[in-house]
Amino acid sequence: MKIAVLKESGEETRVAAIPETVKKFSALSAAIAVEQGAGTKASIADHDFETAGARVAPRGEVLKNADIILCVAGPEAAALASATPGALLVGALDPVRRGAEIAAYATAGIEALAMEWMPRITRAQSMDILSSQSNLAGYKAVVDAASLYGRAYPMMMTAAGTVSPAKLFVMGVGVAGLQAIATGRRLGAQVSATDVRSATREQIQSLGAKPIFVENVAGIEGEGQGGYAGETSPEYQAAQAELVSGHIAKQDIVITTALIPGRPAPRLISDAQLATMRPGSVIVDLAAEAGGNVEGCVAGETIDRHGVKIVGAVQLARSLAADASALYSRNLYNFLAAFWDKEAGLALPDEDEIVKAIRLTRAGAVVHERVRP
Ligand code: NAI
Repeated sequence: MKIAVLKESGEETRVAAIPETVKKFSALSAAIAVEQGAGTKASIADHDFETAGARVAPRGEVLKNADIILCVAGPEAAALASATPGALLVGALDPVRRGAEIAAYATAGIEALAMEWMPRITRAQSMDILSSQSNLAGYKAVVDAASLYGRAYPMMMTAAGTVSPAKLFVMGVGVAGLQAIATGRRLGAQVSATDVRSATREQIQSLGAKPIFVENVAGIEGEGQGGYAGETSPEYQAAQAELVSGHIAKQDIVITTALIPGRPAPRLISDAQLATMRPGSVIVDLAAEAGGNVEGCVAGETIDRHGVKIVGAVQLARSLAADASALYSRNLYNFLAAFWDKEAGLALPDEDEIVKAIRLTRAGAVVHERVRP
């Protein structure tokens, strides 16, 4: 089977294969062609791919006769003009926002697979691009906040006096939140955290942080389908707002990560609550693209409200291009290898839970019920 790896465009810095996965695909008897310059922004030179066994060529040649096309962000259908109908396109295709483009893939005969819709089942853990990229984003959020904060994170006892430790609060303890807690702890901050899923209480404690939870209110258990959070009751939201108001005024750094699949991000911090924070405090909102957890947050921008810096973080994993590409590429490899037969190549059975969840188009038609042109 022939695999093509595309060079990304625009702001994207990551690449969908690394020399390690090129070698692994070769061991499955696949031939890999990488578009010229595909790895440059992730510090991988064309000759690194060649040494690993890939052919490096311009896009037209790479796409010619490819059975599988690997990408990070989904390209425009027009950019795949030289692909063979029936080719599989595998990547973070953003189907909710790019419905028209997904329909165009179908018309072009491209069989599109959206890796962000990987089901949250044990078998698919190593294929989960949201997890791998969120992990890095959680780390980077804390580091970015440190560089904007005009004080130090750790306690320092010096001859000139003591510097008190920064207080860091993590709201939403999924994959990104857990990594933010761990990173904050490593940098010496005093860390506390909250979530709607009660299972996270122990995880917070096991990382040495303090859990901040709404107690004894109906609708407290926010555990929704597939390990994701669901929406909370109005009583719960009121109790959470009160709890946050009391806590947030004493915090220096806040990292928000709360998401509810298929809905706008829950509003966790109001403008009135921001006004109670100490000037110089920093908030990094990792839910910015989904509408933000913080009132007034603007995706892709850093704004100042009441002396508090609010970072509307977008795709933070892009700023760690080399590691992000390595984890993402392994996710793609783990997915394809699970359905690979060395002699027959790739076979994606329609009835498989993973295939059903991520397949967007098939034989010229959009087949996923969540995709609206
Ligand atoms: P996410 O990105 O969907 O949301 C982030 C966090 O925000 C979640 O912990 C969620 O409970 C929390 N949240 C939502 N609404 C909130 C509110 N109003 N207030 C406070 N917090 C709120 O979550 P993520 O990172 O994708 O992880 C969710 C769970 O799925 C985790 O337990 C994770 O370990 C699990 N998971 C399982 C996988 C697998 O089995 N293949 C793969 C990835 C994650």
